[in-house]
Amino acid sequence: MGKFYITTPIYYVNDDPHIGHAYTTIMADVLARYHRTAGDEVLFLTGTDEHGQKVEQAAKARGVSPQAHCDEMVLRFQAQWQSLNISHDDFIRTTEARHRRVVQEILQRLWDAGEIYADDYEGWYCVPDERFWTEKDLVEGKCPECGREVVRISEKNYFFRMGRYQEWLIQHIQTHPRFIRPGTRRNEVLGFLKNPLNDLCISRPKARLSWGVPLPFDGAYVCYVWFDALINYITAPGYLQDDGEFNRWWPASCHLIGKDIVTTHCVYWPTMLKAIGLPVPDTVMPHGWWLVDEAKMSKSLGNVVRPLDLADRYGVDAFRYFLVREMVLGLDSSFSESAFVQRYNAELANDLGNLLNRTVVMADRYVGGVVPQVEAGHAVPGPLQKQALKTLDRVRHALEDLNPAGILDAIWGLVREANRFAEVQAPWNLAKHPHKRKALEATIYGLLETMRHLAVLLFPVMPGKAREIWEQVGAEGALEDQRFQDLKSWGGLRAGLRVRAAGPVFPRVDGTLIEAEAEPDEQDTREHRMSEERKDRISFQEFQKLDLRVARIEAAERVEGTDRLLKLQVNLGDAQRQLVAGVAQHYEPDALVGAQIVVVANLAPATIRGVASEGMLLAASGDGHLTLLRPDSEVPDGTAVS
Ligand code: ME8
Ligand code: MG
Repeated sequence: MGKFYITTPIYYVNDDPHIGHAYTTIMADVLARYHRTAGDEVLFLTGTDEHGQKVEQAAKARGVSPQAHCDEMVLRFQAQWQSLNISHDDFIRTTEARHRRVVQEILQRLWDAGEIYADDYEGWYCVPDERFWTEKDLVEGKCPECGREVVRISEKNYFFRMGRYQEWLIQHIQTHPRFIRPGTRRNEVLGFLKNPLNDLCISRPKARLSWGVPLPFDGAYVCYVWFDALINYITAPGYLQDDGEFNRWWPASCHLIGKDIVTTHCVYWPTMLKAIGLPVPDTVMPHGWWLVDEAKMSKSLGNVVRPLDLADRYGVDAFRYFLVREMVLGLDSSFSESAFVQRYNAELANDLGNLLNRTVVMADRYVGGVVPQVEAGHAVPGPLQKQALKTLDRVRHALEDLNPAGILDAIWGLVREANRFAEVQAPWNLAKHPHKRKALEATIYGLLETMRHLAVLLFPVMPGKAREIWEQVGAEGALEDQRFQDLKSWGGLRAGLRVRAAGPVFPRVDGTLIEAEAEPDEQDTREHRMSEERKDRISFQEFQKLDLRVARIEAAERVEGTDRLLKLQVNLGDAQRQLVAGVAQHYEPDALVGAQIVVVANLAPATIRGVASEGMLLAASGDGHLTLLRPDSEVPDGTAVS
């Protein structure tokens, strides 16, 4: 058993949490949960950065004390993480006594050791970023980080001898390829270190800023907010408090951050640790930036993506899935809701959701909804078993590589293999021949056991949906207690357990339906109204369960022995289906080929006159007349009807 200590940045309390904060936190959560599933001991830390000028100013503007302001603002982050199912083990606030004590003790020790000295300082200061810059740092006279105005300041201050660690840091980065990842960021930092590294100003005169940790050796100053903030990573595991506990966790396995704070984490922090006499973290991993429709998110542009809006609309798990899947490690990503809907429909509703649905529906139809008994080593599920073990290996590798998107890639390999397996085995054909009963049972078992594996493998990304999958296949035990170790032996799903089909876990969504529904208030009142109305009306949710889609008829023939039924092959864009429809007295088979019709795509399969039917078409009928419902104009096959 290993240990895994992962952190997020501690976020400034002043911002409203948005998709960027949610991304880092969800990625850290996913890594933490995978390590727990791998059997590791995990410490997952997040929190808030509460000192500094911005907080002081915001509190003043609202006429409250900085502490009261923080106490209020921190709740928004805590509530957000709870809604997004974040499983952090600790939440640190820099205003907590445990933290201020450690910061002060470190300052005192570094002062005593001569690592901190006083000097007159003259330089350029960026107020919003709270950072000093030298003349040559400036870009066109402005802050190189944010492009805003800087002011000239001259005053006595305290400095940390950061410059003396330059050579050591370069050496460390060069000899530890895992320290800064990905490699592009490592090269940036090495590039930065080609210039002389200055000492770091770590104080602010109280006259200018009083909301911070007081310097223990000079009461007229508080500590620079970044020097204070970075220390949170050692406060939480118990530095200077409980050596046993602290040494168990430190050095951290991974500081997950955004690309905006690379210098503080890859230059300030390791040199601070070196001076304190502590080892540096294994890995600092900066990720790319979330843009919105190619633009930077900003309050003034009004394009800030609020995570809970999306989670409310599509479900927390789908949102978590999308963020993890979409961003390529290290690169920027542009968020678009239509890309989200597309992935949702293709990967969640279709690949994964349909696989589960067909598996449990076929289990109901063909083996009485009970997990069948299959001899160990039966040849039929062989390819699935192999793929499942291969997937487990690939997942472990991607995890070692701190690459959650790679983990999903590996898992989807298994999803696709299982869908292929179902097509090739065609249980609906096996079911026609009594002597193929064993093969039918082995097929159903293979699919059910694969779904059980998928539930365990997907739990860290989609805890809620994974549990639904786990329950539908009837698996025993608590999902959160399952370990990778348990997946090594195929066949954990016990024969005789009851399968509990419960409808699609990811009902398809349609872009236009979503737009129309964007007003949550309106939906709330509608739901409320619905619940007050008579029971025989269906709720909007129930209606949404219907997967109505446009399909194109590609082949049609009469079902032998009846004059009422046609057997139709229809194209749903991403899938082929066979339907049996009672329209033979109204339409000639040939006249229907090429026509677009409307079908219920998620109807439980049935066998009609010995012919499998997976869906139902819609028609208007009465007085002996029947006419098919068709779209008013051509649309792509598979288009949702709402
Ligand atoms: O920098 N895309 O806090 P902060 C991706 N308090 N990630 C984003 C993002 C975006 N558009 N916007 C924000 C601070 N983030 C300091 C940290 S740590 C000792 C102190 C994420 O509230 C990303 O992780 O400005 C980024 O690094 C972090 O939020 C910055 O949060
Ligand atoms: Mg920021």
